[in-house]
Amino acid sequence: MRILAIESSCDETAAAVVENGITVLSTSVASSSAMHAQFGGILPELAAREQLHSIIPVLTTVLSPFAKSSEELPVDTIKREIDAVAVSVGPGLIGSLLIGVESAKTIAAVTNKPIIPVNHVLAHIYANFVMTTDDRQQTILFPAIALVCSGGHTELFFMNSERELSWLSGTIDDAAGEAFDKTARLLGFGNRGGVAIQEAARLKSEVGGQWSVKLPRPLLRDDTLDFSFSGLKTAVMREWKKVQPTSDDQRTTPNIQQLVAAFAWEIQEAITDVLVAKTIRAAEQYTAQSILVAGGVAANLRLREKFTTPLATNNRLPTTHFPPIELCTDNAVTIGSCGFFLGKKTPWETLTAIPDLSVEL
Ligand code: KG4
Ligand code: ZN
Repeated sequence: MRILAIESSCDETAAAVVENGITVLSTSVASSSAMHAQFGGILPELAAREQLHSIIPVLTTVLSPFAKSSEELPVDTIKREIDAVAVSVGPGLIGSLLIGVESAKTIAAVTNKPIIPVNHVLAHIYANFVMTTDDRQQTILFPAIALVCSGGHTELFFMNSERELSWLSGTIDDAAGEAFDKTARLLGFGNRGGVAIQEAARLKSEVGGQWSVKLPRPLLRDDTLDFSFSGLKTAVMREWKKVQPTSDDQRTTPNIQQLVAAFAWEIQEAITDVLVAKTIRAAEQYTAQSILVAGGVAANLRLREKFTTPLATNNRLPTTHFPPIELCTDNAVTIGSCGFFLGKKTPWETLTAIPDLSVEL
């Protein structure tokens, strides 16, 4: 089954053509992330407008390899080459979601193709099932524990197979990606906080300095599978204030690069320590045969290292799988894959965007 997939839940506009949930035939992602940087966060109105600008170009890009000629209308290409349309219906920003959902409905209506609504958060997991560019598919054993850690979500799921999953727990306040983004802003970085923190932390040994900071690992030792990251922002603010020189301070002004590197390192350690510990706890409780990590934060190299270094995890870990880096952040390949494995065809007339769509299955 060949699915045309659409993703538009936040500041990425994406389309893809995916076969049988695993083979990527074409994919395109446009992002307005850089535009939001100057405002220190995503502006929903601006994100929606950018969705509108990008949706036709990304759809045209992914359909063009299937067109008979450059003159062929995309509608005719879809009628001949595509079996169904999958679209992310939530959770997300209403203005952004509507662009993808209404585009998908229009395509389904004019081409008479079935439409499959997809939950954006669950879709992240399916980046692990997709064939890599060198035609390999990860061998995933079940039962599995899936951790979705993105900008808006930090959730654990139990999976009995590709088609059966249930929600276990999540964050009680901020998401892991949100913690990266908010603390990055405190350190003076704009948008794309996770990548900025990762990069600054990597430079720690290069820039040197005696600075060290200790941050809490929220809920690390409680016996639930819950996460909590909102306290990290407050802790970073408190610790950051402590190292700033006051007007009557005789100390030399700290080397800002060294300070930022020390804070970035500890922020990354705190967030990744908690993500790894809670996921291992879930894997043990549910006797999982594998762990699947997904979402934007799954791109973090330190997180990958901790999950795959036996020493760090006392050899307690089942095989941990990560998607290719480019499939961790928002894209439409995951929507096409999830639509194939979990999809339920819906009449296009009844399809709506659901900004607060629950992940608690
Ligand atoms: O999955 P995603 O693209 O969007 C949501 O569905 O939320 O995730 C975006 C999040 C952002 O918070 C971003 O800072 C984080 O993923 N992120 C990272 C890295 N790359 C992206 N966090 C840590 N390290 C990274 N390398
Ligand atoms: Zn996402």
